[in-house]
Amino acid sequence: MTELYDLAYDFATAFLKKANDSPIQVGDEARKNINHLDVPMPQHGMAAEAVITELNQWVSPATMKMGSPRFFGFVIGGAYPVSVASNWMSTAWDQNTGLEKTTPAAAVVEKISANWMLELLGLPRESACAFVTGATVANFTALAAARNQVMNQAGWDVEADGLIGAPEVQIIISADSHPTVYKSLAMLGFGRNRVTKAAVDAQGCIDMSRFPEINENAIIITQAGNINSGAFDPVAEISRLAAGKNAWIHVDGAFGLWALASNKYKHLAAGMDQADSWATDAHKWLNVPYDSGLAFVKNEHALKAAMAITASYLPSENATRNPSDYTPELSRRARGFDVYAVLRYLGKEGVAELIERCCACASRFADLFTQAGYEVMNDVVLNQVVVCFGSEALNLAVIDAVQKEGSCWVGQTSWKNRLAMRISVCNWQTELIHVDESFAIMKTMAEKVLKKA
Ligand SMILES: Cc1ncc(COP(=O)(O)O)c(C=O)c1O
Repeated sequence: MTELYDLAYDFATAFLKKANDSPIQVGDEARKNINHLDVPMPQHGMAAEAVITELNQWVSPATMKMGSPRFFGFVIGGAYPVSVASNWMSTAWDQNTGLEKTTPAAAVVEKISANWMLELLGLPRESACAFVTGATVANFTALAAARNQVMNQAGWDVEADGLIGAPEVQIIISADSHPTVYKSLAMLGFGRNRVTKAAVDAQGCIDMSRFPEINENAIIITQAGNINSGAFDPVAEISRLAAGKNAWIHVDGAFGLWALASNKYKHLAAGMDQADSWATDAHKWLNVPYDSGLAFVKNEHALKAAMAITASYLPSENATRNPSDYTPELSRRARGFDVYAVLRYLGKEGVAELIERCCACASRFADLFTQAGYEVMNDVVLNQVVVCFGSEALNLAVIDAVQKEGSCWVGQTSWKNRLAMRISVCNWQTELIHVDESFAIMKTMAEKVLKKA
């Protein structure tokens, strides 16, 4: 067994050592070679060492090097070494993180990490926290709690009686919400289309001058960190409007919520603490390995009513914290260890430094592109930069050229009805030097494409 683990460790560390200097995008040959794994369902087994060797041979070269300091695609982070190490240990511990009685360490470490994050982000300390797979499920989980409370106050037990015949709930959602929030609404039975869209301003923030009237039973979905611009919705103002109504305010802060950990950037998220629930990802800006999302819900009772398997608990009786009372899953991995590891490693100062460094890198990108005469489409307030080189075809050609060149990686987005290139800086390794190197590549590729056009 030890030999097998040594082998896997050697493969993994060899991969990590090379990762920063390898082309980021998966090459055609490596992509094709994955098919070597596509053998008929084997009749007989194979030695474990051979299985791991085969996986390493075909998978390691076919991985996108998303942990690279020059990976700026989507909005994702890498993984701090301390969290890769804790993740290996938690795989070895293999805890089924449902019940405190059976997996006490997993349950307690989640509780400790949750308390730390509430303090770090300045969220209400009584809030409950669910450790889920990502922001998609965090939004779903928090909105299930919202559905419970809003319907409960309207005299309806949605978990017991379902949605048929339930009171109408108005869903107000930022017109620039992430598509996965609509998926949550669909899964919760609210429907993707039965929403009132709150109009947004030029940066994708809810525009209060055009905010819809809030009905009696309402769930209002806002954002901390617009997926393109990084901008924040005015939650304090929404909260003032919603006061005295049966309304729940939710914040999708998949990456932007972490701005609250920085004294320099938390003003952007002012008023976010007045919401009722918040979703974020640890696998984005906190840089822990996949998968790791977090839902924070001020009313613990509503979250447990929505998620606990049995309705027979009473919060006051609940001396222990059974993780499965807070999440959609009963059995799952112990995600709290990786979150704990990074928070313990960084401390408040380290998290703030990470956020501020990434934002400084985004500003540098914006300055360099502007100085070079290219259009930066958003106000760069956080870690997101949207650059436009001209027509849709030109943007696609530049992005493709950058991806194929291989030393950095950016993706495309649609912003203000235009296709553009989006840069997101979330990685724990990214420094200004990586920005300068990557900008040089992007500029060269843009010049080549524009010359040909
Ligand atoms: C604002 C926002 N919400 C939700 C999500 C979905 O997060 P995940 O992919 O971790 O489920 C993302 C992902 O980029 C996001 O940026």
